Amino acid sequence: MTAYPKTHALMARGAAFLGTEHAVLCGAMSWVSERHLVAAISNAGGFGVIACGAMTPELLDTEIAATKALTGKPFGVNLITMHPGLFDLIEVCSRHRVGHVVLAGGIPPKGSVEAIKAFGAKVIVFAPTLALAKKLFRQGADALVIEGSEAGGHIGPVSTSVLAQEFLPELAADHVVFVAGGIGRGMGIAAYLEMGASGVQLGTRFACASESIAHPAFKAAFFRANARDAITSVQVDPRLPVIPVRALRNKGSEEFTAKQIEVAKLLDEGAVDMGAAQLQIEHFWAGALRRAVIDGDVERGSVMAGQSVGMVSKEEPVQAIMDELMTECEAALTRA
Ligand SMILES: Cc1cc2nc3c(=O)[nH]c(=O)nc-3n(C[C@H](O)[C@H](O)[C@H](O)COP(=O)(O)O)c2cc1C
Repeated sequence: MTAYPKTHALMARGAAFLGTEHAVLCGAMSWVSERHLVAAISNAGGFGVIACGAMTPELLDTEIAATKALTGKPFGVNLITMHPGLFDLIEVCSRHRVGHVVLAGGIPPKGSVEAIKAFGAKVIVFAPTLALAKKLFRQGADALVIEGSEAGGHIGPVSTSVLAQEFLPELAADHVVFVAGGIGRGMGIAAYLEMGASGVQLGTRFACASESIAHPAFKAAFFRANARDAITSVQVDPRLPVIPVRALRNKGSEEFTAKQIEVAKLLDEGAVDMGAAQLQIEHFWAGALRRAVIDGDVERGSVMAGQSVGMVSKEEPVQAIMDELMTECEAALTRA
């Protein structure tokens, strides 16, 4: 007998797909989603995902083994599609019999979906448009995460509520679709489940759990922040593309704007060529997430956070956060 009958009824397909009690993923967060947080999420009935990020195959191998030592429950691995060693990382997942691989950061390169399915794992993908989502399902993807612009980290331009209304009526009957971005409370989970989602993915809400290794200063910045502090990186000049990232406003974000103005001026004067100018912009944030998460430099690092950061006010164990989300979701569905 479940304590959350209505929620679990709507989550049944997602939970069966993940092999979990609750169809709640903690989205991979680079530097944050390592063995401790991932295992804690899975042990609390959710689905933890290791953020491979720029890890080498050797480091990923160690991280998967260490996570397995902390949980016997299912967890996944998030691989960035443009990682130069993508196929070596897939091989590491294969050796560990990882059950679910999430491909993030772009369209999966040729052969990657097949290579993952070849060792029996499920492939979870992201898609910014409905047409691409349908194509990825045709090409063998097993599940989709739709992530709106409220989310922390790298984002697209469209909000979660619009993506959900656009994608779910077309896909949810035949496919497993998880909704991410801006979910801070169980009532939000309830709404997307009622719209047809098989489950949800949260990042911001779990980033500062007691089990998270994030620096105390990173956590304190989250607890202080309101929704409006989690801003998107600003692009100043059309010649100098900026990948949109949602993070807490700080000295670094101000300096980034100033840097773009400075580089645009150098371009106008012919003092640098386009390639060098774009490289200066690209390199500005190199290593910045690590500086914030691990070193605690919340002024010059990148404190990636979603708009739900205003609903994160204290450090709590993952289990307490999960219980609260599930209780709130069940209450919302019961009221409905
Ligand atoms: C600090 C931080 C780091 C993140 N790093 C990654 C990453 O490395 N790869 C990825 O696919 N998503 C990353 N994300 C996105 C999360 O996996 C998740 O989809 C997102 O946080 C969900 O939206 P929410 O923040 O509104 O809950 C990151 C998010 C945060 C807050």
